[in-house]
Amino acid sequence: MPEEVKQDARKITRRRFLDYLLGGSIVVSLGSAVGVILTYIYPPKKEGGAETVQRLEVGDISEIPQGKAKPVVFQNKNVIVIHVKEGFFAVDMKCTHLGCMVEWDVEKGVLFCPCHAAYFDYKGKVISGPAPSPLPLYKVEIAQDKIYVTKGA
Ligand code: FES
Repeated sequence: MPEEVKQDARKITRRRFLDYLLGGSIVVSLGSAVGVILTYIYPPKKEGGAETVQRLEVGDISEIPQGKAKPVVFQNKNVIVIHVKEGFFAVDMKCTHLGCMVEWDVEKGVLFCPCHAAYFDYKGKVISGPAPSPLPLYKVEIAQDKIYVTKGA
């Protein structure tokens, strides 16, 4: 008889343990869900990240010989820095037609959108194709042989 009482006590303990385990998992799951929702509603502020940089150092001027280009990320946007005989230009790479990324065609000296064949000049002006407007232009500064991209053209 005392053996049966012991087994009953063990069954109750196991059940309670499983209840605690289930309850604990529900609390952890709800906590995680609430954390995700709060992070979505109140995103953490980023300081000094790529999106807050007002002036981006692209590199030394020797890194982009005339006729070449270098893609960079400036304020969360893909920007291409182009070196032509007229100087350095920084153009937003997002095509104004449907948003594909344009590429610099070294041979032709133009920006080309591979999606629907839009062409832009080194200042982002539409040459041909379906793009409805020019590509945004950024300001380029040269200081002590370094190239910088800043906001505004
Ligand atoms: S997305 Fe560039 S031409 Fe259509």
